[in-house]
Amino acid sequence: MIYLDNHATTRVDPRVVDAMLPFFTEKYGNSGSVTHALGETAHDAVEAARNSIARGINAEPNEIVFTSGATESNNLAICGVAQRPRRRGNHLVSVQTEHHAVLGPLQKLSKRDYDVTLLPVEPHPSESAGCLDPQRVADALRDDTALVSVMLANNEIGVIQPLAEIGALCRKHGVLLHCDATQAVGKIPVDVDHLNIDLMSFTAHKMYGPKGVGALFVRRRNPTVRLDAQILGGGQEAGRRSGTLNTPGIVGFARALQLCLAELPAEAERQAKLRNHLWTGLNESLPNLELCGPQLEESVRLPGNLNVSFGNVDGEALLLNMPQLAVSSGATCASTDPGPSHVLLALGMSEDQARSSLRFGLGRFNTADEIDQTIGIVVQAVEKLRHLT
Ligand SMILES: Cc1ncc(COP(=O)(O)O)c(C=O)c1O
Repeated sequence: MIYLDNHATTRVDPRVVDAMLPFFTEKYGNSGSVTHALGETAHDAVEAARNSIARGINAEPNEIVFTSGATESNNLAICGVAQRPRRRGNHLVSVQTEHHAVLGPLQKLSKRDYDVTLLPVEPHPSESAGCLDPQRVADALRDDTALVSVMLANNEIGVIQPLAEIGALCRKHGVLLHCDATQAVGKIPVDVDHLNIDLMSFTAHKMYGPKGVGALFVRRRNPTVRLDAQILGGGQEAGRRSGTLNTPGIVGFARALQLCLAELPAEAERQAKLRNHLWTGLNESLPNLELCGPQLEESVRLPGNLNVSFGNVDGEALLLNMPQLAVSSGATCASTDPGPSHVLLALGMSEDQARSSLRFGLGRFNTADEIDQTIGIVVQAVEKLRHLT
């Protein structure tokens, strides 16, 4: 099996597993039970991880709230800000191409007296397809806007949004900015101060860490962001998110981010080269391919992302004909949504174009040989299906 679905999840790096293992069997205390040594060991490990993760995004340790993943972080950020009794108003601004973990809470709030504006992005085909023009954010802001939520990198087309400009704009107008940086952290440099981000979601399993653990960065100063807690209980995480902390997961999360950051420049260059080779190999062998999303340029697209529409070939049929490849079809962007990708439709692509697309997500463990094999497998399957139709 050649695994090219690294936007969905990543294999846990063995170095991460090594860091986690003692916290299952030997150092198993509850990080909240600091009345004995086992609890203290867990507490110290969680705090060391919090420090390390905070440093990785240029935040302070007390600005990191551990969660079960980016879905929970997004829900906490959006509902937490929107439901604060003292907020600017009930207007929320986001983008049509956001992940369902952002669109879901927004949709729920829109049914309860909140006014949600979903901004469009640059259409297909163009070098900036999928990019959000910061001017659209500026035009959408109102006196009652409580929150703007814009993702840093898109999980389907890899487009990197101009967050620094959007952040500066929001700061100037005194509006809080939330960013879903799930696909970006560990893959491109992320600095919450440079980007003027007030809340930021990210998760371990997209960066060779374990599933089920994530974080929300919540700015403590200039401005101080206050949240209405969504999960109530023992008051962990300074009351912002109750529940016993997942110590092995948090330790693995910190190790995973540390490894990503240490290897980032070289790895980004390596993946971009492989990704470009994959696109050239497919495009030179098959007519009528379309690149979905922006140009293959490091400033606007994640290095490991490629999304291709294969003309009149159904993506699902293509997947069935390539059982040795783990890739994702544009029609399966969410387990509950079998329809064509809302991201590709937001680019103005037709349902047929969206249904004929595949997303390739390259990662740390992919080799040049695998990419060569992938080109051969895809070309053969597309030619077979085109011949049949
Ligand atoms: C952009 C984006 N946001 C949020 C999520 C949800 O993350 P998690 O699986 O940690 O809940 C994902 C994962 O698919 C994602 O790609």
